[in-house]
Amino acid sequence: MTVRGFFPDDLGTFIGSVTTAEPEAVIRLREETSKLPAAGMQIGEDQTAFMTLMAKLIGARRAIEIGTFTGMSAIAVAQALPPDGELICCDVNEEWTSIAKRYWTELGLADRITLRLAPAALTLDALIDNGDGGTFDLAFIDADKTGYDTYYEKCLTLMRPGGLILLDNMLWHGRVADSLDRDEDTVALRTLSEKIGEDDRVDSCLASIGDGVMIARKK
Ligand SMILES: C[S@@+](CC[C@H](N)C(=O)[O-])C[C@H]1O[C@@H](n2cnc3c(N)ncnc32)[C@H](O)[C@@H]1O
Repeated sequence: MTVRGFFPDDLGTFIGSVTTAEPEAVIRLREETSKLPAAGMQIGEDQTAFMTLMAKLIGARRAIEIGTFTGMSAIAVAQALPPDGELICCDVNEEWTSIAKRYWTELGLADRITLRLAPAALTLDALIDNGDGGTFDLAFIDADKTGYDTYYEKCLTLMRPGGLILLDNMLWHGRVADSLDRDEDTVALRTLSEKIGEDDRVDSCLASIGDGVMIARKK
């Protein structure tokens, strides 16, 4: 496999060759997703392995995802949870998430994943109103970029101390480093990175995996 990132293709091939191989069903999900016009939204193999490892390292039992698409990042997290663990997936697209559900079932992960088809901010608010603050171990944010700051704040409320928030695309293909780039998505991601970097509520690191994964650990 060749993984994508801020390095030449031959290095991507090397990284892919030393990353844990994916099961046959996951490779099939990648093939099916590659035929969609929005295929580029799917996370790469190295990021999948990285997220599984992160979830295992913190012993995650309860997780939330904002932005599911065809289900790859959900598989990364769900496969690290114990059988009675729970992953809540937030998305608004029935067509893409119906593909996800097929593969979750095939991989034996469907019992631990709940899909909430609604704008993510509403789902997060409902969880907070339900008294679920401080009960989650891990969050992954990978939806509309201008919504990230809102999702980050709500996820911070939902995380337990020591819980992780992972935010995808924080390098935005390198565009965040170009101060002349005033596109609203670029500005939203750059501003949020700067905010998290100075946020006393978390320890953080912007890792250059895939398109950049910000790791924020709630203190
Ligand atoms: C980049 S894709 C997610 C990719 C996915 N994490 C993966 O690994 O394949 C972004 C997803 O966010 C969803 N989305 C966009 N706006 C949303 C919103 N306001 N609430 C919930 N989901 C949203 C889209 O429908 C899309 O499936």
